[in-house]
Amino acid sequence: MVQWTSAVGSTQLARLITSQQARPAGPGTRRPPAYRALADGVRTLVLEGRVPVAARLPAERELAQALNVSRTTVAAAYEALRTEGFLESRRGAGSWTAVPAGNPLPARGLEPLPPEALGSMIDLGCAALPAPEPWLTRAVQGALEELPPYAHTHGDYPAGLPALRQMIADRYTERGIPTMPEQIMVTTGAMGAIDAICHLFTGRGERIAVESPSYANILQLMREAGARLVPVAMGEGLTGWDLERWRQVLRESAPRLAYVVADFHNPTGALPDDDQRRALVDAARSAGTVLVVDETMSELWLEPGFEMPRPVCAFDPAGSSVITVGSASKAFWAGMRIGWVRAAPDVIRSLVAARAYADLGTPVVEQLAVNWLMSTGGWQEAVALRRTQALENRDALVAAVRRELPEWTFEVPQGGLTLWVRAGGLSGSRLAEVGERVGVRVPSGPRFGVDGAFEGFVRLPFTVGGALAEEAAVRLAAAARLVEGGAGAGVHQPHTFVA
Ligand SMILES: Cc1ncc(COP(=O)(O)O)c(C=O)c1O
Repeated sequence: MVQWTSAVGSTQLARLITSQQARPAGPGTRRPPAYRALADGVRTLVLEGRVPVAARLPAERELAQALNVSRTTVAAAYEALRTEGFLESRRGAGSWTAVPAGNPLPARGLEPLPPEALGSMIDLGCAALPAPEPWLTRAVQGALEELPPYAHTHGDYPAGLPALRQMIADRYTERGIPTMPEQIMVTTGAMGAIDAICHLFTGRGERIAVESPSYANILQLMREAGARLVPVAMGEGLTGWDLERWRQVLRESAPRLAYVVADFHNPTGALPDDDQRRALVDAARSAGTVLVVDETMSELWLEPGFEMPRPVCAFDPAGSSVITVGSASKAFWAGMRIGWVRAAPDVIRSLVAARAYADLGTPVVEQLAVNWLMSTGGWQEAVALRRTQALENRDALVAAVRRELPEWTFEVPQGGLTLWVRAGGLSGSRLAEVGERVGVRVPSGPRFGVDGAFEGFVRLPFTVGGALAEEAAVRLAAAARLVEGGAGAGVHQPHTFVA
């Protein structure tokens, strides 16, 4: 690593470290020395991706002050991190985070496990299901048949293939929101859509209001874009948004953007009703805030006959204050990398113009495949498979966790792919770390929060069922016992750092 590429401030780092609290370790467990606890805390933050690799850490004196510990403690922690390969330093340039050679990178949780690891590790990291075959194969075959006329072009369609834009527009029109293809841009997944929107609307230091908790990768994307995140707590359980809090934040912070996952919120599974949707659109409009609504999970209601509330854009059909983002990733397959934006035509034009300097367009074959699915009825069949599979997985997981971990609490959502679990007072970060050792990969709560919130949570996805769901719960219970016994990085209470 040549040098640092971003920086983490002393107050921010101190907040992240002190938030890694857990129920105090059981009686008889020995606390590690303060410097060790601090070093382990930083290491966990790097390995979980909550402090980026190549981020400059604060000077020893500043961090010591922010944590209220002696400078010697910080110096010893930095030295330990250097020895272990998690920190690099150069005189005059400071110290920045690193991952030692041979260690998996923080983004490792995104990669599917290799076949040889499937027996030893149960992956609850990603809330995405395998392809709903035979529909993937059929869709690709259908795409290949439709490819020849496109093969004669250069193949870059920055707004998306006209046929797919029309198809997506028609689907909104069928849902009761008249939409023209000029209001649609096809993107590289919902991530590509939100990245483009953030770049168009927000400069560095600008505010974006986000649900708290919210989808981890979007929060990180916004942080990396230099946004200042303003967290707005969700209502209790699955009740949706706390409109009073939203009105206050929109009034007082006047953020440029607000980002919400209205349909089966990731991670909580909440589903705000029509009244909440109308009220949030009104509040955003009054504040001059553009509301970005992520509909990635919108087709994943699990109970047969379930009635969905109206799409949020139904309360702003012209798209002047609501931008909608959709995706094929959850309803169909994440490997397609197809997403889209629905907005006012002038917003789409600006997004398309900016794309010349980003990824130029979305792969043609995948767009044709999604278009084939949507125009043949294959989409509906594939989504129906998804729903059945996710429902079975959800019920198996819920039963297994209730049996193995009766102290863990959660609400069971009616759709989506995630269970947001309060881990009985244990640290989610420790569970994630120890889970890797006992064969279950699970993301910790703070990944879904701002500034270390939700330490006491983990997110469990509906991606495994049957015996595997039971085994996952058994392994989580084993991890919980180890954490209770003091295993993990050993950062328990802020005062651990008093040297
Ligand atoms: C709410 C939400 N938004 C966006 C994404 C990423 O979507 P895509 O794969 O289309 O980029 C996910 C995936 O987990 C998600 O849950």
